[in-house]
Amino acid sequence: MVCRNAIKHNPFVIACVVNFPEVNALSGYGLYSSPDIDFAIFRLDVTARINDPRNFRVSSSMADQNFPCAQRVSQIRPFHVMELLARARELEAQGRSIVHMEIGEPDFPTAKPICDAGIRVIETGKLFYTPALGLPELRAAIARFYRNRYQVEVPASRIIITTGASGALLLAIGVLIEPGDEVLMADPGYPCNRNFVRMMGGVPAEIPVGAESAYQLLPEMVARCWTPRTRAVMVASPSNPTGTLMPEDSLRAIAAIARERGGAMIVDEIYHGLIYEGDYTTALKFSDDVFVINSFSKYFNMTGWRLGWMVAPEAYVRELDKLSQNIYLSAPTPAQHAALAAFEPATIAILEDRRAEFKARRDFLVPALRELGFRIPVVPQGAFYIYADCSGLTGDSFAFARDLLETAGVAITPGADFGANAAERHVRFAYTNAIPVLAEGVKRIGVFLARA
Ligand SMILES: Cc1ncc(COP(=O)(O)O)c(C=O)c1O
Repeated sequence: MVCRNAIKHNPFVIACVVNFPEVNALSGYGLYSSPDIDFAIFRLDVTARINDPRNFRVSSSMADQNFPCAQRVSQIRPFHVMELLARARELEAQGRSIVHMEIGEPDFPTAKPICDAGIRVIETGKLFYTPALGLPELRAAIARFYRNRYQVEVPASRIIITTGASGALLLAIGVLIEPGDEVLMADPGYPCNRNFVRMMGGVPAEIPVGAESAYQLLPEMVARCWTPRTRAVMVASPSNPTGTLMPEDSLRAIAAIARERGGAMIVDEIYHGLIYEGDYTTALKFSDDVFVINSFSKYFNMTGWRLGWMVAPEAYVRELDKLSQNIYLSAPTPAQHAALAAFEPATIAILEDRRAEFKARRDFLVPALRELGFRIPVVPQGAFYIYADCSGLTGDSFAFARDLLETAGVAITPGADFGANAAERHVRFAYTNAIPVLAEGVKRIGVFLARA
């Protein structure tokens, strides 16, 4: 019935048969005709809000059968934000001014001491592979970082240098998940996680979370949703898209549940360092058997260098070594040498100034958005995102984001990129721009809302 509704609104689809391989993504085949093609059968992916014809995507046609494509890839949905970003760039090329509040990376350039260290190593020309587990000096530097910042002893032997947190997440899931295994995670959450799980043949089991739990999983949710097929639970603190922290008690309790049930816990700490209030610690403080993911991308402002790390339970290091050798041989060598300068006091001083700037932006934007009518029930404690409830302003966050871009020249991310749970009621703002730019964005949104 839902499907029929979507078909009715889609001018191209004459008929379709759907199956239900999972709750949030329906797929099947549709018939298509156009002036130049009489008749063709298309594979359809119906995603997120299945009532919405926009979510019918033609992913491959019978004509494409000469180009075989694995099912695991066709299950991956493109990010709406990428479409919006492409459109924003198009509008900019036409001379329009666009305020970017959709981009999930720091606007600050990489700190000079890091660049200098990178340049020095590039000038030697000695840019050979490093060991797959990473440059020993960098692994040791990260171990010292845990000692200095968190007073936690982590042996360098458990630290694995990866191609960003992305590489670390993929390795962790790769070493844990058998086809058919379930992985628990919060909805809304970082969109790549569910795709990483799918790529490994696993099943993302997304648990709806809301403001009541600060958009984080609670131990009782994990206990309730854990099934005999569950292999792991993934959390991020602070989270993307909500910027909220998971309290230490919950981290501890969830780690204990995973241990008792013979599963694993993956804790994404990529936004550590970008936390503006409240106590926080690494999950490594109380557990040696969690997989902790981190990165040089966010706090260290090194997104394009593609460098991150994982702290793995000792027993998995050999397996992770094999996997990384086979997947990418080693993380980028210039980036690894450059990152040695990331922990120097001069660099940390620069990064801490930037953290203060991010906090000032958050403190400007949260009340400004509330003033415009967005609901922000939980003030984000970290990262550089505000996950705002826009249901008082629109019933369709995707259309809202699109219209805001076209009409007011402000780019934001619709909730659908982060899951299916109340996605149409939420948008994400990124404060990865200076306060005067954010103020211009707020002004434009105000004018847009006044006209609507
Ligand atoms: C929660 C989270 N984890 C992982 C990543 C991947 O980051 P990278 O591969 O750049 O380290 C991101 C990027 O936005 C993120 O938001």
